[in-house]
Amino acid sequence: MRTRPLKVALLGCGVVGSEVARIMTTHADDLAARIGAPVELAGVAVRRTGKAREGIDPALVTTDATALVKRGDIDVVVEVIGGIEPARTLITTAFEHGASVVSANKALLAQDGAALHAAAEANGKDLYYEAAVAGAIPLIRPLRESLAGDKVNRVLGIVNGTTNFILDKMDSTGAGYQEALDEATALGYAEADPTADVEGFDAAAKAAILAGIAFHTRVRLDDVYREGMTEVTAADFRSATEMGCTIKLLAICERSKDGTSVTARVHPAMIPLSHPLASVRGAYNAVFVESDAAGQLMFYGPGAGGSPTASAVLGDLVAVCRNRLSGATGPGESAYADLTVSPMGDVVTRYHISLDVADKPGVLAQVATVFAEHGVSIDTVRQQGKDGEASLVVVTHRASDAALSGTVEALRKLDTVRGVASIMRVEGE
Ligand SMILES: NC(=O)c1ccc[n+]([C@@H]2O[C@H](COP(=O)([O-])OP(=O)(O)OC[C@H]3O[C@@H](n4cnc5c(N)ncnc54)[C@H](OP(=O)(O)O)[C@@H]3O)[C@@H](O)[C@H]2O)c1
Repeated sequence: MRTRPLKVALLGCGVVGSEVARIMTTHADDLAARIGAPVELAGVAVRRTGKAREGIDPALVTTDATALVKRGDIDVVVEVIGGIEPARTLITTAFEHGASVVSANKALLAQDGAALHAAAEANGKDLYYEAAVAGAIPLIRPLRESLAGDKVNRVLGIVNGTTNFILDKMDSTGAGYQEALDEATALGYAEADPTADVEGFDAAAKAAILAGIAFHTRVRLDDVYREGMTEVTAADFRSATEMGCTIKLLAICERSKDGTSVTARVHPAMIPLSHPLASVRGAYNAVFVESDAAGQLMFYGPGAGGSPTASAVLGDLVAVCRNRLSGATGPGESAYADLTVSPMGDVVTRYHISLDVADKPGVLAQVATVFAEHGVSIDTVRQQGKDGEASLVVVTHRASDAALSGTVEALRKLDTVRGVASIMRVEGE
């Protein structure tokens, strides 16, 4: 074993960074044996000094992250600051000064992944980011390496623990969205400002990263259709239950049948209780991958938290250190397929539509005609009437999102349709 240590600069020492530092210390001997050289924490960059940081030598702590990455003797920079800047500049500066980079930064990778990969390649360095998608769950390496000989057609996942906790609560207790969110906040599963989670921004960033890796093409954050889950109601869950389904916020990345294009989207959807993703409870994450040769694979585990996320960061650190010692680099960006990313209108799926209608003869025929005129075939209809008003629940066969949007627009214009109470896609069948 080499005795000269590999030097690691840790950028950020919060929820994830403090756990990375702790595991680096407590597992130092095992890490050295697995890598073939000891790893040394050479510096820790933070925003504020003067804060007690358990297990960290205060002499290593600095607020000058730029000087740390420019030192020239750093082998690996671990970026766990988060956000776009200064993380982006620090990562590119690290490459220019000879270091490889491990990051957990989904927002940055989804927005600027291509440029960061190009910077890594130009400098002959590694960029690894297993922790950026679904915390501890090994997902990026399996897609990038284990499935490199296969053809992935679909990635369907629960990639946000906060929203899964809220939806699971609504499902199991009958609670409304706000009540479930309040509980998630009280238990520390939701941030004080939950927008990034509940509006699907966090999941959309992960979908962009997953789609790019799974289909060997470039998928930008703007390419991902996004719908949050704040409009999901207790009534939607009752409808889902009647259909033998539950509701999950899903990230769905699909290759078209002819293989020339892909789509990536995040939205709430009904899935059958028999689907493996339906049994993913609480704040857990799971990703279902369908490929030509392997068939169906499911990856499941904790998608966040300091220690689980640090596990993924440490796995990358070991890989990058091994590459470093052998003078090689791991796989870079693979975007050779250069596929078109199609708009949401091209997505084909099933729909559950709940309408408030007048309870009088002929309404059902009128509604059915609108569906037929837009080429959307109805699978089932359920009607419940009371005091001159009725609710009509229509479940369609597979149709394009564009056709469904046209249908809904036309339904809203019918005098007999008082309102469209909810529209939910039905997935996983
Ligand atoms: N938390 C999770 O469960 C989780 C899961 C998966 C991925 N991630 C990703 O991991 C990254 C870190 O998340 P986190 O939860 O650990 O965040 P966090 O607890 O807020 O920690 C951020 C750290 O970065 C430091 N920092 C902030 N701005 C800085 C700057 N300009 N220069 C130097 N240091 C700076 C902070 O310093 P102070 O300590 O002085 O404030 C803090 O130590 C993010 O990209 C996040 O998306 C997190």
